[in-house]
Amino acid sequence: MAAAQFRRERTRIAVARALFFFSFSCLISLSGAGRLPSSRQKLEAHKHLKRINKPAVKTIQSRDGDTIDCVHISHQPAFDHPFLKDHKIQMRPSYHPEGLYDESKVSTKETTNPVTQLWQMNGRCPEDTIPIRRTKKDDVLRASSVKRYGKKKHRTIPQPRSADPDIVHESGHQHAIAYVEGDTYYGAKATINVWEPKIQQPNEFSLSQIWILGGSFGEDLNSIEAGWQVSPDLYGDNNTRLFTYWTSDAYQATGCYNLLCSGFIQINSQIAMGASISPVSAYRNSQYDISILVWKDSKEGHWWMQFGNDYVLGYWPSFLFSYLADSATMIEWGGEVVNSEPNGQHTSTQMGSGHFPEEGFGKASYFRNIQVVDSSNNLKAPKGIGTFTEQSNCYDVQTGNNGDWGHYFYFGGPGRNPNCS
Ligand SMILES: *[C@@H]1O[C@H](CO)[C@@H](O)[C@H](O)[C@H]1NC(C)=O
Repeated sequence: MAAAQFRRERTRIAVARALFFFSFSCLISLSGAGRLPSSRQKLEAHKHLKRINKPAVKTIQSRDGDTIDCVHISHQPAFDHPFLKDHKIQMRPSYHPEGLYDESKVSTKETTNPVTQLWQMNGRCPEDTIPIRRTKKDDVLRASSVKRYGKKKHRTIPQPRSADPDIVHESGHQHAIAYVEGDTYYGAKATINVWEPKIQQPNEFSLSQIWILGGSFGEDLNSIEAGWQVSPDLYGDNNTRLFTYWTSDAYQATGCYNLLCSGFIQINSQIAMGASISPVSAYRNSQYDISILVWKDSKEGHWWMQFGNDYVLGYWPSFLFSYLADSATMIEWGGEVVNSEPNGQHTSTQMGSGHFPEEGFGKASYFRNIQVVDSSNNLKAPKGIGTFTEQSNCYDVQTGNNGDWGHYFYFGGPGRNPNCS
């Protein structure tokens, strides 16, 4: 991009942000837990649904209660974005990073089980459409406000070097992660063990994901995130779901989960963001994992995402970001839970499998073959991996390295226990 054009883009982003902030100052706050929504709130919810749910070419009912709308690719939410009005959809990436491991040849005897999405059992989306999980009125009414629906609360990012206990406890978010920093990164990959952790309170969640981070941990932090999550507030159940997230201002005004705002451009007709994945792993039993790759296309500058070996889902256009328009400065892999128990006790919401890393394969949850993408578009082993957890007695992380699994780690825990109260 020419320098002048680049500056123009930045200015436009600044203007768009100002507008977003303005709209936030006009928020209408919705019901707290337990109160019935007023007719005003129902009307707000209805209007919001009309905006975000797009007309379907075909509709598929999933047995988990989801409705999947097959929406024409050019009618997807991304194109509500003013900057995308004249955007020509890129149907494939210009570059795909070269890997260290050929996943189809990695023969880890225990983990070769394919993971799919539940809704696929009841139909397929036609060509030129993308599957979108329909947002229902109850989904929106569970949120603290219509405008906050689909957004993370502020300050949920793990800050490995923040030793300040006040910051750690203030947020109520707890992490057990591995990370690298101090270089420029153009993507990251991992194979993530899939579980269905127990959530104690509906307003808590548990997830396992990759973070692609740009900038410092200030108000303008850029983040692209992908993995699986259990989030009763967002989805209305305890199912394990594939998700993505992005923000260019530290979770304030920009970004959202999945396709719940305009930004991500999906090209894939087979995988739905926010839809349940199955099966999930069982303790001392079958293990399942998913691989996720996020990388920056060095030609167009967009950030692409791939699920498994076969599904390129789509991309986040470069203009959504400031720092990430260039490169990432930090990569994190691992788990996060929200600890929101009102009485000061620690939550018993589980991270990963709900078991500590010491228990190892088949019991503790893992990330394996973690890699980063370098400036030459190569996937390579990360150098100088650090680990971070706020309270290792609640959730912990342990790294390792071997032939089949490359760099890997086990992580997670039960939350509340005699050493974590
Ligand atoms: C989710 O799990 C919790 C316990 O972990 C349970 O109390 C709740 O009813 C479940 N919610 C749904 C929608 O199944």
